[in-house]
Amino acid sequence: MEAAIEAQWLQALIDGLQSAQLALLRALHALGIVGDVHGQPAWPWAWRLSGDNLLIELGQARRLAAALAFVAFALLALAVAWAWRRGRWYLLATLPLAAITVPWPDASALRVPATPASFHVPPGLPSAAGVVRGQALYAQHCVQCHGTDGRGQGPQAASLAVWPPNLAGPLLWRRADGDLLWHLQHGLRDTQGRPTMPAFGDRLSDADAWALIDAMKAQAAGEMLRATGQWGRPVRLADAPVQCADGRTRPLSSWRGQRLRLVVAGQGTPPPPEDPRLVTVQVRPGDDPVAEGCVARTPEAWQALALLAGVDSPAGLQFIVDRDGYLRARSSPTRAGWSDDDLLCRSDAPPRSASTTAPADGLGALIARMDAQPVRFVKGGFIH
Ligand code: HEC
Repeated sequence: MEAAIEAQWLQALIDGLQSAQLALLRALHALGIVGDVHGQPAWPWAWRLSGDNLLIELGQARRLAAALAFVAFALLALAVAWAWRRGRWYLLATLPLAAITVPWPDASALRVPATPASFHVPPGLPSAAGVVRGQALYAQHCVQCHGTDGRGQGPQAASLAVWPPNLAGPLLWRRADGDLLWHLQHGLRDTQGRPTMPAFGDRLSDADAWALIDAMKAQAAGEMLRATGQWGRPVRLADAPVQCADGRTRPLSSWRGQRLRLVVAGQGTPPPPEDPRLVTVQVRPGDDPVAEGCVARTPEAWQALALLAGVDSPAGLQFIVDRDGYLRARSSPTRAGWSDDDLLCRSDAPPRSASTTAPADGLGALIARMDAQPVRFVKGGFIH
């Protein structure tokens, strides 16, 4: 319980740091003080404040919270002193005293190096078509150093001054998306300024680079699932067009706010019956008319699911996506039916409220656990 409360205020603090800097950047941009880079406002400083370290150094987080409380108190005291002439000097005298006693946070714990794109956000949700395009670009430009699985064992790796990092783990989630974009387009250097990874700005458009980032994350998700049996970081479902029996075409993301079950066609397995607790969409490439329900039928939808699940073919598998669009569960290839152990993207926290009515079946138990553990903070150390 204590940990949950701590997580809540820490998350508020980290979110606050991020939004305050973003607001500052937007204001500077609106005033024409900073320009654009890669299509979004450019962060003008070589540093930014990051909450990620606070997750490791809880003491610093407490200090920061105390310092912010002091700043709020000082502002209030100034406002009161303005209006209250007689008490003005007593009030103002408390400020330096308070300033001395406040445990100021260590600037080096909050400051991290920034790039001009640190606050850039991806142009949209990851799409299956983008993931597949990114996969092809990866095979063309990156595989010789980073290896097919992203673990950094490509044929050229051993000849490099710096060994490529393991992209198949949580690294991509630790970085700001905008920093990844910047590193792809402008390359990386060591502390002496010597290039360690080449720049791709002359070969990749920004859209290509974003597609690569989505593809690398999808690949890392599949590798994590293979290695540990879990999606250790929150993974978004790649969007894809869906055709419905009523003749309409709509994107998978249009069901945001509802739980989604993706049923990938397998050999001879009939699709499961509809269930009122979730929206069922079949995944089945082909162009025969859709007789009932809704079907995602682009080859990219199929391929993106294979990558996300770390398998050659997702045939016969089912996936459950939560109301926020995160992939949360994949059916067991060896066991029929669902259980709450199939939640593959989860925290170890106990469910928030112990429900008095036990769910009637495995799927109900899974949904209850998924709803009780929504995906929360994504950067840094907290997991969903
Ligand atoms: C010539 C070899 C080489 C090629 C080609 C290459 N990389 Fe790298 N990459 C590296 C090395 C070495 C590092 C580590 C550099 C460092 O930490 O200074 C790296 C680091 C990275 C990182 C981590 C960045 C970070 O923020 O820490 C990512 C992501 C990445 N590469 C993606 C790619 C992608 C995508 C491509 C293809 C478009 C690519 N790389 C092509 C060698 C390469």
